[in-house]
Parts: sequence; C-alpha cells; structure tokens
Amino acid sequence: MSLDLDKRQRAILREMGVRVWQPPPVAVVPDNTDAIDSIAVSARQTRAEAAFDAEPQRAPLATAPAVRRPQVQAAPAATRPPAAPVPGLQPRPAGIELMTWPALQTAVAGCRACALCESRKNTVFGVGPPADEAAPAVDWLIVGEAPGENEDLAGEPFVGQAGQLLDNMLLAMGLQRGNDDAARAGTAKNVFITNVLKCRPPANRNPDPAEVAQCAPYLKRQVELLQPKIILALGKFAAQSLLQDSVPEVHKIPLGKLRGQVHSYLGVPVVVSYHPAYLLRSLGDKAKAWDDLCLAMNVAPTVVRSA
Ligand code: URA
Repeated sequence: MSLDLDKRQRAILREMGVRVWQPPPVAVVPDNTDAIDSIAVSARQTRAEAAFDAEPQRAPLATAPAVRRPQVQAAPAATRPPAAPVPGLQPRPAGIELMTWPALQTAVAGCRACALCESRKNTVFGVGPPADEAAPAVDWLIVGEAPGENEDLAGEPFVGQAGQLLDNMLLAMGLQRGNDDAARAGTAKNVFITNVLKCRPPANRNPDPAEVAQCAPYLKRQVELLQPKIILALGKFAAQSLLQDSVPEVHKIPLGKLRGQVHSYLGVPVVVSYHPAYLLRSLGDKAKAWDDLCLAMNVAPTVVRSA
C-alpha cells in the first residue's frame, strides 16, 4: 500500500526524517514499432550504407530512440529446433568449378539458386575488357557487394553514383573500366569489376548469408579463371566473403581492422577498403581509401598502356 500524500505532507515528513515508501515510477515505453521500422527502412535504402555498421562515422542508429525489447532466452542447443530451410533455395548449376568463362556467364545468367532470381531484372556477372573463350586478361579484380537498382537495370556493376566514384578511383590508379569507350591516356583496361552477389537484393537490403553462400562458387570460379594479381575487396560483404576461410571470425572484425594488410584468397593477394557508397557519405575516409589503393598498387603495380 502506498500513502496518498500531497507535496506539503511529504516535505514535512522529510523534515522529520521519515522516509515514505513509494512504488517505483512505471517506465512508459512508447510503442516504437513504427520508429524501428522507419529506421530500418531508411537504413536499408542505401544497402551499402548498412554494410558499414562497423565502420567509423556511421551513427544513425545510435541516435534512434531507446527501445525496450523483450528479453528472449535462447533455448538450450539440444532442444533448439533445426534451422528452418531458407525459402527459395534451389540447386546451383552443376560443375561450376570446371566451367569455362562463357559457360560461367551462361550459368550466372540462368541461375535460379536463390529467390533473388524472382525479383531481378538482369543478372550482373561483371565488367572487364572484351573476352571470348578465355577470361579477360586483367591484373586487377574489384569485388563489391551486390547490384543495386541501376545495376539490375543495366546488367552491369557499379553504374550509379558509387560507380562514378569507383571509376575515378580506378583512373587515379591508371585503370579504366573495360567497356569505357572514352580515350583516356595513360590508363589500362586492366581490371574486372564484379560483386559478391550477381543479383539485386530487393529494396537494396543486405545480402542474406544463404544468398552469399549460393553465389560464392561463381565468384570463386571467376577468380580461378581471371587469375588476377590483386583483389580489392570493397566493403564489409566483399571482405567477409573473400576472407571467411583465412581470417578467423572475420564476421566479428570491423572493416577498418581488416584494412592496411595484405590478405589472401585462393592464393591471390587481397586488400580491403571502404565501399565507394560509404565514401560518398564519409568524405573524411577518402584519404584512408587512397592509402588502401596505394597498398594494392604496391602489391600489383598497374600496367599502364597508352590508350
Ligand atoms: N554497390 C555494389 O556493391 N555493387 C554494385 O554493383 C553497385 C553498388
């Protein structure tokens, strides 16, 4: 029972040294479901932004209203139900590991191994200098995350704003997109650009681990056939995908901590850097990205030919 005392009575009792028990104030937790959803949606709008949660200067979620979530106790492992099958997963085409470049292109174009095939307009295999039976002869492989809306429409990676920045980064290194008709003196079309996922995740959401796993053999075969001298992994998803077998618990390591060293994927040196979409928002990190490009250029000096 609590005493129904007014302010004056409480003051008198306090003066008398009498402590009056009161029930603790009940925290009124606003129903923030809408707020959470809208934060999640705005975070999803630029999927690449979301890919940088572990990176510096990314703080939109920190400003979100504090929300109480029910404490859900994880069931002990023994009683946990088996993981639900991810809807929409189908077998990949057989024999990817032996495919030629054209066969790999055909396999990706017809891939129905995950549900992304339902919503994509085009698959995005990658772009480089013209190739026929053999893979294009390139020293550099750039790996991004996944096609966005523009890339899905164009069937080509990095054609939006982030792509323009990527093209400028390449030019700064003496590299030029393989299908760029502009005559650019002092650059070489010595680069292939692709993504971890070959299909666009709807609404630019993050790639799902099951989708990444389904797509991984395509990227692996691309690397085997291209035999690049250096791979530049742009952003968290590219880094995690390429380094999952060589860096323990790579999923727990912030992208910034994977930078500044030379990793390896299938024996090819890998340098990790920020995703261009992140750099568009975080201009201060462009200098760090340039450091990464310099590191990569030290590993694989670009062969520059006159255009
Ligand atoms: N972001 C990526 O990671 N890849 C693209 O192709 C476009 C945007």
